[in-house]
Amino acid sequence: MSHVASDRIGVFDSGVGGLSVLAHIHRLLPHESLIYVADTAFMPYGCKPPEQVLERCLTVADFFDKQQVKALVVACNTATAVAIETLRKHSSTPIIGMEPAIKPAALASRTGVIGVLATTGTLGSGKFNGLKSRFEQHTRILVQPCPGLVEQIEQGKLSGEQTTALLEHYLQPLLASGIDALVLGCTHYPFLMPLIRQIVGENIDVIDTGEPIARQLQRQLEARNLLSPERAGMVEFWTSGDCALVEPVMMQLWQAPLKLHHLPV
Ligand code: DGL
Repeated sequence: MSHVASDRIGVFDSGVGGLSVLAHIHRLLPHESLIYVADTAFMPYGCKPPEQVLERCLTVADFFDKQQVKALVVACNTATAVAIETLRKHSSTPIIGMEPAIKPAALASRTGVIGVLATTGTLGSGKFNGLKSRFEQHTRILVQPCPGLVEQIEQGKLSGEQTTALLEHYLQPLLASGIDALVLGCTHYPFLMPLIRQIVGENIDVIDTGEPIARQLQRQLEARNLLSPERAGMVEFWTSGDCALVEPVMMQLWQAPLKLHHLPV
């Protein structure tokens, strides 16, 4: 990435999922101006070959480079698993990525059995499996890919028969195996929290990494003296998909009106 000149922070995901992270960033750092990119035209990343996801990440990073962002948040577990090392090699800008919260889940678990919901891409990655093997000695880690779930969220279907049936199908085997902590290893899934709670009940720790990532971003900005002065930050939204289709879902999830810009693919 070229020399930092703007005061903005880039945040991206394959689609609307990263809004769950953006919300934590906006809440913790209200003075920061944020640019959010949903790469909807290439969603879902989770079932695409890693080379294809990497190519998209480099294209989106190039857009942020042109915007001269002062930091970049990869608000996607799949993209982080596949691309973060390459993105960092290409850039001197601080880049923050997501990682399924196996460590906090393993620490919180009393049964010693935890579950991880994530995309097929994340669960198949070397990065994820390296992380998993670090905790496997003391904790049984059950992984569950969730094809189809991201597509439901992209349509704003956070409840209803189809989404409930899919989620029950993915959660029942984990519950039957005695998990007491559940890691949400995809940034789309926090939007299903009410439904997840309904299915798993109150006695299971459901762990989302949006807030810790916002705090990590804050620490990185502080360390580099990059925090913005005290004025309200702006949030700008972009999609590589069809704005007319994506805008209503984004507003539903962001819970405020917004104007969506089109990112040419
Ligand atoms: N939200 C993304 C993640 O955290 C991926 C969703 C997808 O495009 O498959 O992994």
